[in-house]
Amino acid sequence: MLADDYRRQADALTTHGLALIAEANSPEALRDVRDRLFARKSGLLTALQQTLGTVDDKRAAGLAFNGTKQALESAFEAATAAMAATRGGPAIDGTLPARHTWRGTRHPVSQVIDEIAEIFRELGFTIALGPEAEHEWYNFGALNFPDDHPAMDMHDTLYLGERTVLRTHTSPVQVRTLQQYAPPVRVLAPGNVYRRDFFDATHAPAFAQIEGMAVDEGISFADLRATLNHFARRFYGATRRTRFGPSYFPFTEPSAQMDVEIDLGDGRGMRWVEILGCGLMHPAVLESAGLDSQRYSGWAFGMGPARIAMARYGITDIRLLYDSDVRFLQQFT
Ligand code: PHE
Repeated sequence: MLADDYRRQADALTTHGLALIAEANSPEALRDVRDRLFARKSGLLTALQQTLGTVDDKRAAGLAFNGTKQALESAFEAATAAMAATRGGPAIDGTLPARHTWRGTRHPVSQVIDEIAEIFRELGFTIALGPEAEHEWYNFGALNFPDDHPAMDMHDTLYLGERTVLRTHTSPVQVRTLQQYAPPVRVLAPGNVYRRDFFDATHAPAFAQIEGMAVDEGISFADLRATLNHFARRFYGATRRTRFGPSYFPFTEPSAQMDVEIDLGDGRGMRWVEILGCGLMHPAVLESAGLDSQRYSGWAFGMGPARIAMARYGITDIRLLYDSDVRFLQQFT
């Protein structure tokens, strides 16, 4: 191509482009004009640049191209600024990628606690709370732990003072609640508990527990089984199998554990997983709370919502639940 022809094409584009810019009377129209002129692949300016290589006098053609480019760019910038000024705001470039907005979600452990609380709420349970910094007596003595029980060792329990501990379980809420409310009592007590443990894949030094307790005249082990089976079917699904096996806690007699058949998502299929400890309340615990253990009986259970969340979502390392890494947590919407 001759340089003169190229210059004419460049001038024609300048005229055409300036007209387009002048006619654009809304941000949307201006954006269309910008695409038409400056789009990297299909814009008119690109088309002009692509024929530049075929011109005999490349220097002259380059000057012509730059002249057009600068004229259109500065006209476009001026038009954008003028548009923003008449609209009374800063220039908004509607094509900029949106800034990522973070949307909070409830922590998976909190979601599990909420769901469990809802199931028991339907059965008439209310929520009870107790302090995390707890008197040794509520944590151990009132719950029928013998004075030399190994759990009371400094090794396992975090002592805040001579007689004050960070509660190692939510069971102290049993006695605190019974001191405050007369039977019939049906409560659920979620909360954090603390143990001197290493922070590894299966242990955390602080974790959530949910205590459940029912106290009345004539409460039996059958009530406990029926309630927990109902819970498991509501939480895991109507066909889920459960089983009870013997266990030991100083504050329940007899003591049991409940296992649920769960597919942990690790490729090993369904297997029995212990989800809670439970039992009929030991008469000594009822007496600690000032109740007549001849007249009243009760049951209690304690479960770990973090373990339940891990089983549900196939999480194999408990630290993921307590590391507060949003990249992990934002999956649980
Ligand atoms: N407190 C027990 C634990 O932390 C669980 C439990 C609660 C067992 C209530 C029986 C009854 O392991």
